[in-house]
Amino acid sequence: MKLLIVANWKMNPQSLTEATFLLDSILRGLKRERKNLKEKEIVICPPFLYLFLLKEKIEKLKLPNLKIGAQNIFWEEKGAFTGEISPLMLKNFGCQYVIVGHSERREYLRESDEMINKKLKAALQEKLRPILCVGERAKERKAGKTFKILENQLKTNLKSIFNLKSEISNLIIAYEPVWAIGTGNPCDPEKAKEVLVFLKKNFKFPILYGGSVNSENAKNYLKVGFNGLLIGGVSLKEKEFLSIVKSV
Ligand code: PGA
Repeated sequence: MKLLIVANWKMNPQSLTEATFLLDSILRGLKRERKNLKEKEIVICPPFLYLFLLKEKIEKLKLPNLKIGAQNIFWEEKGAFTGEISPLMLKNFGCQYVIVGHSERREYLRESDEMINKKLKAALQEKLRPILCVGERAKERKAGKTFKILENQLKTNLKSIFNLKSEISNLIIAYEPVWAIGTGNPCDPEKAKEVLVFLKKNFKFPILYGGSVNSENAKNYLKVGFNGLLIGGVSLKEKEFLSIVKSV
């Protein structure tokens, strides 16, 4: 299994010029690392607005390990759903990965576990690789409820997914403790490992870690057994992001 490094740009950067600059610097760096990329898969998830730019540049570069990812999808294929993007549209576009159920969407857009379940099914049906984000809040961890929260999220998020004929093996889970996201307060790798062991006991999918990953701590999560990383803030800092790609 290839090591998966996913860059989640979130709602950044703010102009096409900046997005082009960032992408060019990252792609130049990846090109230099070409030989070092064999065992890795790099997925860049920019805002929808910049997906076309990414696609054009990837096609020119011909780096087989570099993939296109989206940050969200809707569950219907087409129709009157203003503002939404369908899994079929993403597939036809050439996108392979999609982040589903990120805690920021759960929180600010009130995405429920049931909605996430529908999105996952729709993504799998189009043979996309959904990255399902799960994780507990700080107060839930303090109350010793981490595993219960994860169990509840996964129970609903994955409801009747195993009955699908489509490629269930495409699913990826990202453990992202909410309190570690964008806070500079990463989860201790040993604590994250406890969650990893719990997830691996129940599922055969690749498991990523996300939450304040940086060039200093990235390796530690892979050492304890995670199959890759979901990187937010640092994926916008081309030098640091590239140094993670290089070092892991
Ligand atoms: P962060 O974000 O690396 O900035 O903590 C991770 C994520 O939200 O996926």
